[in-house]
Amino acid sequence: VICLGIEGTAEKTGVGIVDSDGNILAMQGCQLYPEKGGIHPRIAAEHHAEWIPKLIPKAIEEAAINYSDLDLISFSQGPGLGPALRIVATSARSLALSLNKPIIGVNHCIGHVEVGKLDTGAVNPVSLYVSGGNSQVIAYESGRYRIFGETLDIAIGNCLDQFGRETGLGHPGGPVIEKLAKKGNYIDLPYVVKGMDFSFSGLLSAALRQHQKGADIEDVCFSLQETAFAMLVEVTERALSHTQKDEVMLCGGVSANSRLREMLKTMSEEHGAKFYMPEMKLCGDNGVMIAWLGLLMCKEFGPMDLADTGIIQRFRTDEVDIPWIDNTKN
Ligand code: ATP
Ligand code: FE2
Repeated sequence: VICLGIEGTAEKTGVGIVDSDGNILAMQGCQLYPEKGGIHPRIAAEHHAEWIPKLIPKAIEEAAINYSDLDLISFSQGPGLGPALRIVATSARSLALSLNKPIIGVNHCIGHVEVGKLDTGAVNPVSLYVSGGNSQVIAYESGRYRIFGETLDIAIGNCLDQFGRETGLGHPGGPVIEKLAKKGNYIDLPYVVKGMDFSFSGLLSAALRQHQKGADIEDVCFSLQETAFAMLVEVTERALSHTQKDEVMLCGGVSANSRLREMLKTMSEEHGAKFYMPEMKLCGDNGVMIAWLGLLMCKEFGPMDLADTGIIQRFRTDEVDIPWIDNTKN
């Protein structure tokens, strides 16, 4: 069974083709780099509208198959930016209808976790999914992926990007901040974990205030990273203890950060848990994860009626039944 997946929840357009053995036949993507400011939902939608029709034939060519070889069309149904999601869903419907193929919409966050498991061989990890739009600690329990902790306001990637933009470091902020942080010393910034959730907006304001007060940019970058990552690692650690799992997986675009990786790996090893991270190109948003999750979902539940393919802007990770994980193995 061969599935083509379309991703476009935020500013990256992705098209992937995967077979039911988990072989990646094609992976095409195109990232939108906003000229200034954050991502504008309408601009992101226009980007997808331009690129989806270009990336689909490229993916078919890369996979060296014909359109008739496709058995399923999968798309990211949510969570994400409304206008962007609508373009993705409409494209998927048009493709499915014109080829007379079945269609399925899937949850973007679960896609990150499942493609990570496919790539790394992790079986049942506690996952830290960190990107520009999402920050969640996810683990399987009682038939679903549960959110053990999440951001109460902005995502960690968004926090780093906003800091980058406000201080003139450019967009995306993450990679630049990582570089500058290497030479920094610690200054005190607010550490906010409430219950199992974390918050980054107060931390962002405090870091910006330090910068305005003339603190060394390298020190602010270092302290911003150390504080934010310690919060993420603490909540992941508590989820690990609670669930008694023995695997930890890092995914999402912020996985590119080697300091975060190091901190999470150290914590995992202290708990005797194995640390995993998918190949970087599978960490960020991509069409492959949508195609793979489409195959997993379709095998269990069959394809969707067109009437059910509407977008779900606030699609929660824990709304989806996950029957393919063995309940008896934690
Ligand atoms: P999603 O739709 O899942 O929210 P996204 O659109 O934010 O994804 P990703 O590619 O998953 O896209 O993540 C991009 C984020 O990763 C940006 O916020 C960027 O600053 C951050 N990032 C990239 N490299 C680094 C790095 N080295 N350190 C920290 N953050 C990084
Ligand atoms: Fe994502």
